Amino acid sequence: MDAIRIRGTRKLEGRIQVSGAKNAALPILCATLLSDGESLLRNVPGLRDIETTAALLRFLGREVTVGIPQVRVHAGHRNGLAEAPYELVRQMRASVLVLGPLVARFGRAKVSLPGGCQIGARPVDQHLLGLEALGAKITVEHGYILAEAARLRGAEVVFDMPTVTGTENLMMAAALAKGRSTFVNCAREPEVEELGRVLNKMGARVEGAGTSVIHVDGVDELAPFDHTIIADRIEAGTFLAAVGATGGNVLVQGCPFDDLEPVIAKLRKANLEIEREGKDVRVSREKPLRGVDVTTAPHPGFPTDMQAQFMALMACAEGRSVLTETIFENRFMHVPELLRMGADIEIHSNTAIVGGVEMLSGASVMATDLRASASLVIAGLVADGETIVRRVYHLDRGYQAIEKKLALVGADIERINIADED
Ligand code: EPZ
Repeated sequence: MDAIRIRGTRKLEGRIQVSGAKNAALPILCATLLSDGESLLRNVPGLRDIETTAALLRFLGREVTVGIPQVRVHAGHRNGLAEAPYELVRQMRASVLVLGPLVARFGRAKVSLPGGCQIGARPVDQHLLGLEALGAKITVEHGYILAEAARLRGAEVVFDMPTVTGTENLMMAAALAKGRSTFVNCAREPEVEELGRVLNKMGARVEGAGTSVIHVDGVDELAPFDHTIIADRIEAGTFLAAVGATGGNVLVQGCPFDDLEPVIAKLRKANLEIEREGKDVRVSREKPLRGVDVTTAPHPGFPTDMQAQFMALMACAEGRSVLTETIFENRFMHVPELLRMGADIEIHSNTAIVGGVEMLSGASVMATDLRASASLVIAGLVADGETIVRRVYHLDRGYQAIEKKLALVGADIERINIADED
């Protein structure tokens, strides 16, 4: 079992390259189901979730060639079962993103219910209610969603809450529906806007992606596409937080500054210096870290996917910080591990009160979910002594060779293999 060994307290200096956005690549890969022919995706990150999605598309009859940073998807000569099995969906909840394309294109989709994960129950009721509004007949039995529709038809759908993959699933379904759809209270994440760009490249008529109201005029057919994926704002934000924690001076190459406004505002309040340099962003910290309060919110609020990393940063800040998680009900799995490293954190319901400490101490810790793993890596970078982060397969889902990228800017970090006793 892979683990990552870190010896802390080294400053980070140099250049670090941001990869393509995982949460843009996943829906865009699923959008290839909407057309025949061969689509080409560029700047795709080398992640486990990309491989999982490729396996799912192959199961669905597509020919997928993964040559990171490129992925080619060809319609293949047979349309496999329009079915996403539990064995694949349980590895990655985002597999639910094949539901909209399959029912829109083939009139039928059978997708395993994603089930929950470490950070929450993760229901998909909004996806199903939206597809029903578009005319799909939905039945849920034996852990599977069955969606059927001779032809989806445009409708108005108001989401109960902004849902990223819910918005994406319905945009893709509506693209081939008959007539106009209007979606209200949509997720406004940059990855939703990016999917809208790709659908329009395919010949769809999507307007407003990235805002809370999206209109889609359905068309009869869509074409394959060639698209370069946007940079990963959460990977980039993770690097900004890492430099903030260790101190130093790093040029984060390809860092999407505009997509990170809410994060950069909080990092600057914590005494990081963050400045654009063309398409890159320079981050440094000379002054002592200052405690800053954060409440997560849908974009353009502070992203929940940066909460764990920001907490690791706050663990050694001067003064108290209060972190409130409003999106997921159990996204503090990193806290018990940070406490093992000497952090001072109290949890009260969905709020964590972090009292900054002088120094964390290295320890053997366990990753539980993707962003919690990143939080533990940041903590290891500043801790005194050696930290071993176990179960780093969680990390590999969303970070391409993070230990190599951090080693290039001076971190004492390496991937090791250890027997995973438990
Ligand atoms: C996406 O998940 C991201 N994943 C998550 O990133 C991210 O944390 C999340 O959006 C929030 O930004 C991908 O894009 C692949 P939601 P998603 O639907 O779409 C509730 C990472 O670390 N909800 O926006 O599953 C839900 O419980 C991952 O890269 C319903 O109640 O999240 C949550 O409280 C983790 N019913 C809130 O909405 C629904 O039908 C937002 O969830 C759908 C969602």
